[in-house]
Amino acid sequence: MRDKRLVLKAEGIWRSFQTGAGTLDVLKGVDLEIYQGEVVAIVGPSGSGKSTLLNILGGLDRPSQGSVRLDSIDVFSLNDKELAGFRNRTISFIFQFHHLLPEFSALENVMLPGYIARENLKTTKDKALKMLDEVGLSERVEHKPGELSGGEQQRVAVARALINEPTIIFADEPSGNLDKNMAESLHNLITGLNRNKEQTFIIATHNFELAQRAQRILRLEGGKIEPYKI
Ligand SMILES: Nc1ncnc2c1ncn2[C@@H]1O[C@H](COP(=O)(O)OP(=O)(O)O)[C@@H](O)[C@H]1O
Ligand SMILES: [Mg+2]
Repeated sequence: MRDKRLVLKAEGIWRSFQTGAGTLDVLKGVDLEIYQGEVVAIVGPSGSGKSTLLNILGGLDRPSQGSVRLDSIDVFSLNDKELAGFRNRTISFIFQFHHLLPEFSALENVMLPGYIARENLKTTKDKALKMLDEVGLSERVEHKPGELSGGEQQRVAVARALINEPTIIFADEPSGNLDKNMAESLHNLITGLNRNKEQTFIIATHNFELAQRAQRILRLEGGKIEPYKI
């Protein structure tokens, strides 16, 4: 990779949970560097802490110890309100289940982040239509989530993730709920966005086909992360 910008640097991430059975140390010192334009896949057994790690890297959860710098901001030095604003401007998530609002059309769902960021409504609408076009859904903008297939719903979630031009998109098992054909089409979309827009992705996945498309695969096990060789 030539002269790529370091966009995320995580150092010494620990995350412990207090449970009935005592303290559970899920992450035990994770260090990570992500460069502009990379797709990085995180694999590992179920329960190894992939979602926990993604939530911390994306500022949805705070680590017990350690730091994350994203776009040169020390993420966890921000208070909750600052962090929420920073997240809205900088980070997007795609989850296994699309988390679209059922009462709103595809277009309205995609517009939502722009609306929350109080951007101009007309600009947001134009952008949302463009994003829906990019994910191949220009014929479905007025459909509600319940009127779309699982694969189409995930595409709306991708369009929504793109609208604020995030530095990084975190995807947690994005194709975990899709059949093989729909999964492959979503993987093509992700790969295409990476190639054409240099969109950076960090993806936790069980799907080997998706992991293999990443520039780097990391394996999380025993609370630590290491490069995974195919
Ligand atoms: N809020 C929580 N309280 C207690 N334990 C948790 C909490 N969140 C996650 N865990 C535990 O942390 C471990 C890692 O979970 P998770 O990050 O969801 O793993 P993965 O995404 O790799 O399947 C699991 O054992 C899970 O039960
Ligand atoms: Mg998970």
